[in-house]
Amino acid sequence: MGTVIALIVFNSLAAAFDVFDFVDPLIGTLNGGHVFPGATLPYGMAKAVADSKNPVDGQGGFTSDDSLILGFSHMHDSGTGGVPSMGNFPIFPQTGCAGDMISNCFFTKDDRSTSRLNGSVEAHPGYFALTLNTSIRAEMTVTNHTALYRFTFPSPSANTTANQTPPYFPLILVELTDLQDSITNGYIEINNTTGRLSGNGTFMPSFGVGTYNLSFCIDFSGAEVRNTGLWYDIPILNQRSTSNPAPLPAGGWTQFHPPPTNQLLVRVGVSFISISRACSNAELEIPTYDFSSVLTTAQSSWRSKLSVISLDSTSVSPSLQKLFWSGVYRSMISPQDYTGENPLWSSTEPYFDSFYCIWDGFRSTFPLLTILDPVGVARMVRGLVDVFRFEGYLPDCRMSLCKGFTQGGSNADVVLADAYLKNITEGVNWTTAYGAVLKDAEVQPLDWTTQGRGSLASWKSLGYIPLEDYDPFGGALRTRSISRTVEYAYNDFCLSLLSPLSPTPSTTLSLYRSRSANWQNLFLPTQTSPTLPSTSPSLKSNFTGFLQPRFANGTFGFQDPVYCSPVLGFEDCGLDAGGGETYEGSVFLYTFYAPHQMSTLISLLGGPELFIERLRYLHTSGLLYVGNEQAFLTVYQFHYAGRPGLSSLFSRYYIPSAFNGTVGGLPGNDDSGAMGAFSVLAMMGLLPVAGQDVYLIAPPFFKEVRVRNGDTGKVATVRCTGFEEGAIYVQSARLDGEVWERSWLQHSFWTGGGILELVLGKEESAWGTREEDLPPSY
Ligand SMILES: *[C@@H]1O[C@H](CO)[C@@H](O)[C@H](O)[C@H]1NC(C)=O
Ligand SMILES: *[C@@H]1O[C@H](CO)[C@@H](O)[C@H](O)[C@H]1NC(C)=O
Ligand SMILES: *[C@@H]1O[C@H](CO)[C@@H](O)[C@H](O)[C@H]1NC(C)=O
Ligand SMILES: *[C@@H]1O[C@H](CO)[C@@H](O)[C@H](O)[C@H]1NC(C)=O
Ligand SMILES: *[C@@H]1O[C@H](CO)[C@@H](O)[C@H](O)[C@H]1NC(C)=O
Ligand SMILES: *[C@@H]1O[C@H](CO)[C@@H](O)[C@H](O)[C@H]1NC(C)=O
Ligand SMILES: *[C@@H]1O[C@H](CO)[C@@H](O)[C@H](O)[C@H]1NC(C)=O
Ligand SMILES: *[C@@H]1O[C@H](CO)[C@@H](O)[C@H](O)[C@H]1NC(C)=O
Ligand SMILES: *[C@@H]1O[C@H](CO)[C@@H](O)[C@H](O)[C@H]1NC(C)=O
Ligand SMILES: *[C@@H]1O[C@H](CO)[C@@H](O)[C@H](O)[C@H]1NC(C)=O
Ligand SMILES: *[C@@H]1O[C@H](CO)[C@@H](O)[C@H](O)[C@H]1NC(C)=O
Ligand SMILES: *[C@@H]1O[C@H](CO)[C@@H](O)[C@H](O)[C@H]1NC(C)=O
Repeated sequence: MGTVIALIVFNSLAAAFDVFDFVDPLIGTLNGGHVFPGATLPYGMAKAVADSKNPVDGQGGFTSDDSLILGFSHMHDSGTGGVPSMGNFPIFPQTGCAGDMISNCFFTKDDRSTSRLNGSVEAHPGYFALTLNTSIRAEMTVTNHTALYRFTFPSPSANTTANQTPPYFPLILVELTDLQDSITNGYIEINNTTGRLSGNGTFMPSFGVGTYNLSFCIDFSGAEVRNTGLWYDIPILNQRSTSNPAPLPAGGWTQFHPPPTNQLLVRVGVSFISISRACSNAELEIPTYDFSSVLTTAQSSWRSKLSVISLDSTSVSPSLQKLFWSGVYRSMISPQDYTGENPLWSSTEPYFDSFYCIWDGFRSTFPLLTILDPVGVARMVRGLVDVFRFEGYLPDCRMSLCKGFTQGGSNADVVLADAYLKNITEGVNWTTAYGAVLKDAEVQPLDWTTQGRGSLASWKSLGYIPLEDYDPFGGALRTRSISRTVEYAYNDFCLSLLSPLSPTPSTTLSLYRSRSANWQNLFLPTQTSPTLPSTSPSLKSNFTGFLQPRFANGTFGFQDPVYCSPVLGFEDCGLDAGGGETYEGSVFLYTFYAPHQMSTLISLLGGPELFIERLRYLHTSGLLYVGNEQAFLTVYQFHYAGRPGLSSLFSRYYIPSAFNGTVGGLPGNDDSGAMGAFSVLAMMGLLPVAGQDVYLIAPPFFKEVRVRNGDTGKVATVRCTGFEEGAIYVQSARLDGEVWERSWLQHSFWTGGGILELVLGKEESAWGTREEDLPPSY
């Protein structure tokens, strides 16, 4: 009886709530977020948006600033660094050409780019629209491999300057190019009856090596074709096809008689296989140009993905709710499901791409999806294993069918171990998966720029990556010896977790457990930090003991512990900057990275009190840049020293000051949803330690969070008592009615369902402080 009443109440609340009111795809489209805000399906390949002419921040296509719009294109990545990804074959509408001369229309990016009307942008899941200053309204939606655009032209009858210049003969052009102008071998053909524009080209990936081929197929509905042609810099009439469109820029165009409804529908199919596949993708997926039905299908795909979560958002600001739901949404934009679109090998396994990059995503995006969409994650893991099967190694980064650059360790190992521990088994060949992780640990590729690990000989013999390592077995950029050491150690720990899959489980376990302690070999107990920024209140102690670079002969070198942080040489330590033994972060930061051996680390740093002081200092001194993913775990590592309350305090320090619901509300590149996923996990109150079956408990930002497991259908609920402003500390907890004193719990909570009840208060309590209640260390 009680249940029935509860259900009725829940349904009536649900009716009033529309999740789309809280998904704002424009978050992160300014200030370096590089988010793709356009129309896509969950993990969809077609991603349509207006492209801003913004070479600095336009990685995701559209930016929420005054940049001109150079066109509308159908493929993108979201949140990436590097140069802009894809944006291939942009199309552009014009109402007519002055004097009815084709040559008076505008063709090149420079000539045609147009501002948009202020306030005209509308972005929702599955939909994006804006109005160009030519009064053309551009709307777009998508299926998995096809974009559908609806251009509405200013009605001539409604126009007081009816004697128009230019006369009303709409023209749509396509350009053989991408956002980074990387095309070679562009090819286009034009059907002068239907107006179809189709073609292909070879492009460069944005953060990787090699090239990829992509094809497109553009069809129209809504008006009669008047004329077609090619353009190379200038338009060329009546030429039907070319395979050598020099000089660039080049493309094709179709012009129309006035559309009776003033609307043109433009359907763009894309394919990595061939032009005819691009056309058949479009014909199959959008046979009737029914914009509203395509949109409705896209919207229901998103509603169904988002429906696994429900919240009691009483007293939570709309802006925080937007941050939350938009983060959930963005975690499902990439990786992209290219199953059936992979020309590189033939396989019956799913193929996923746009892992951009696993170094970023393993910490938050994958663990979040493992909770929200375990069925999707199983397909991604199968896709990763298939990359290993056919290319010899797991990727660390992969985009547009190309190998991407490895930033540190072989962190797909963490993704696989995490999936294994969390029962992501559906269809995964774990024997092959184990072999893939083992190979990362044992077999060094000749070129480890894009796969595997480097300096494995030293790793095995010395137990660390030496400074300036002499490595005759392979090559790549020999920097990052400290950050690679700590990541390789954790990767080896993850391999040890897969030991049940090994033919010799106990030797595998002990070998890789032992290597997982290698980070300690770079710990120099006497090292101080000479250039600490001053803070207030002043420090009780100086910090002594840091990781340091070390030569192969055992002698330590020196890197200032704050170098590569915002206070010293911040920009020096990327892949292309060439410097630094720590990748995009300081020694001060990387010294905290031993997620599997936190109790050892805490002892090395002088015990819980000094550890807490140092971690607090990291967060309050300006040393930490929270816009890069290595920062995430440090927000919660207070748990390991018995101060879970401080994790709660600092998560609230960054949300909303650094992560919030504004267009500039991400502190760094979203990196395929990683920033969004971190905010969601933090706000859900359970932070996963990626690669372990461990979730750190901290009060959620909502009174109640419910997640339905996509595999088992069971519902896990985190419920707060005493939820009010300032009550951010757990006083006591119960799991399914039983007193719960540990500051962490396990994945069975999500798969098996249950209720975690947290009693909150305004002061730190004794909860989670006892030795036996700390999260595990090995
Ligand atoms: C749009 O409006 C905003 C705020 O009113 C203003 O800052 C911005 O410059 C305007 N942009 C354009 C393109 O007019
Ligand atoms: C439209 O934008 C272009 C490019 O910025 C500009 O030259 C033109 O004056 C604008 N037209 C209107 C009507 O705002
Ligand atoms: C898109 O592709 C996915 C994966 O194949 C599939 O599950 C989904 O149903 C497709 N969505 C639509 C709207 O066709
Ligand atoms: C009327 O036509 C002119 C010339 O094409 C154009 O600049 C203007 O934006 C149109 N006005 C409306 C309201 O559509
Ligand atoms: C143009 O397309 C029509 C309809 O598909 C087809 O019948 C015709 O053969 C095509 N023309 C050329 C030159 O390919
Ligand atoms: C259309 O293309 C065909 C094949 O190239 C050509 O024979 C024909 O003249 C073209 N028609 C027009 C109106 O341009
Ligand atoms: C483009 O298509 C043409 C015609 O089908 C084909 O000959 C060419 O190899 C393709 N090029 C690329 C880069 O896919
Ligand atoms: C897993 O892959 C291996 C080859 O790596 C194959 O021998 C084995 O049969 C596969 N297992 C299953 C269950 O498909
Ligand atoms: C920390 O070290 C600096 C420089 O070595 C020294 O001046 C300062 O007194 C020390 N502070 C404490 C609290 O030990
Ligand atoms: C170890 O090697 C480094 C770099 O070559 C050198 O500077 C140092 O003196 C060596 N240490 C010893 C003890 O030989
Ligand atoms: C929102 O986040 C951005 C990016 O981190 C930050 O610059 C801005 O100050 C934040 N805004 C608020 C109101 O906290
Ligand atoms: C994983 O699956 C096994 C077998 O179905 C089950 O016994 C175990 O509890 C599951 N573990 C989790 C974390 O769900």
